[in-house]
Amino acid sequence: MSLPRPASAEEASRLVPGVWPGGCHRNPDGALVIGGVDVRDAVSQHGSPLFLFDEADLRHRARSYRAAYVDAGARLVYYAAKAFLATSVARWVTEEGLGIDVASGGELAVAVRAGVPGDRLLMHGNNKSMAEIEAAIAAGVGRIVIDSFEDIVRIADAAGRAGVVQPVLLRVTVGVEAHTHEFIATAHEDQKFGLSVTSGAAAEAVRRIAKLPTLSLLGLHSHIGSQIFDAAGFEVAAARVVAFAERLWDEQGIEVEEVNLGGGMGIAYVDGDDPLDVADMAHQIGEIVGKECAAVGIPMPALAFEPGRAIVGPSAVTVYEVGTVKAVDLGQGLVRTFVSVDGGMSDNIRTALYDAEYTVTLASRESSAEPVLCRVVGKHCESGDVVVRDAWLPGDLAPGDLLAVAATGAYCRSMASNYNYLPRPAVVSSRDGAMQVVLRRETLEDLMRLDPGA
Ligand code: LLP
Repeated sequence: MSLPRPASAEEASRLVPGVWPGGCHRNPDGALVIGGVDVRDAVSQHGSPLFLFDEADLRHRARSYRAAYVDAGARLVYYAAKAFLATSVARWVTEEGLGIDVASGGELAVAVRAGVPGDRLLMHGNNKSMAEIEAAIAAGVGRIVIDSFEDIVRIADAAGRAGVVQPVLLRVTVGVEAHTHEFIATAHEDQKFGLSVTSGAAAEAVRRIAKLPTLSLLGLHSHIGSQIFDAAGFEVAAARVVAFAERLWDEQGIEVEEVNLGGGMGIAYVDGDDPLDVADMAHQIGEIVGKECAAVGIPMPALAFEPGRAIVGPSAVTVYEVGTVKAVDLGQGLVRTFVSVDGGMSDNIRTALYDAEYTVTLASRESSAEPVLCRVVGKHCESGDVVVRDAWLPGDLAPGDLLAVAATGAYCRSMASNYNYLPRPAVVSSRDGAMQVVLRRETLEDLMRLDPGA
């Protein structure tokens, strides 16, 4: 157990800046307020568990990313919809000047339903179906990212049938895997995405694309990982992408006009997480690409980026109701208090799947009780069903209290399941004290509808 014991009840209930949404604060009675809404009111109107998004915070993030990366040479910043998608989020990010990166026909359909213009869309996928490709072309998506040799033929054929020339990027793998402060640079890529620059597969793909009149190769795409805190991994990736671009010019006379460096910009989940400031990161990446291009003597391409987590992650919290509180004697004077909430791994799989760390706080009142070491767990039939592995929460925590878990806007609702037949929580946004339903709560009836025998 590495989480240090807080010095006092006040310290334990402090809202760590950067982890919680921008305007988040406590009412005088201790209740948490998100976007001007008291979480107790949110739960009494919309139930629990509840994802509560601060719309202004999300819009602010979208605006900041757009401004910083456009300043650094980006033509367009795409929001990576896999982090979380609903029509209102698609509209907000579009209004803030972002495009949207979709990775399936489903994500595409939501973006189209939200009215996002085709030229603001980019489609990914290592195994796009023909139907998904056709839907993308019908929607007029501005970029389809080619991920395999099969993609080349399928997209070219579909574009031909639709009578269009489809702009494409080629996803290349450059042997860089980045995560937080660490990155690994290798010559090989042992993963399913993209085509390797070192093996010659990427160069062969470019040769094939160039021969097809219904495809227009605009440039290259590289995504190196997620939850990245500094520019070091991007530096190696950019150098390798630019070296490949130079080779394409020398060997095939092909100019790489656009380079999309993907997403992966990290956020703070817990105290001590310290991602580089948005503008600094953007500036550093822009400078790196400029320097690499100058070094090999090719013109600087237009850039593009695809942040997902960094746009929506910190803008939402999950509010849960405490159901049971169980103190377990670990021996040697150690006690762990298991606090069970009314959701769990079905609304946040990240703790179980990635050992992700989260920050949790008592959200419905203040407490001066001595903090105790807690594990916040869900209600699923599985001991790995942990929401927050270690947290110091007030010793008087009781059934009916509300807990808020910070930074759950990305990859929580979008990775949610119906494990144990739990209906998925509602997603609500708040702005200036008013709430709006983003996704309504699932009902048991919704689930029963899938079962013809029910
Ligand atoms: N672009 C591409 C091609 C990607 O594959 C991803 C994420 C992104 C952009 C957005 O990355 P972000 O900025 O959100 O880090 N489920 C995992 C994350 C998987 C990310 C997959 N690709 C998690 O919960 O941490």
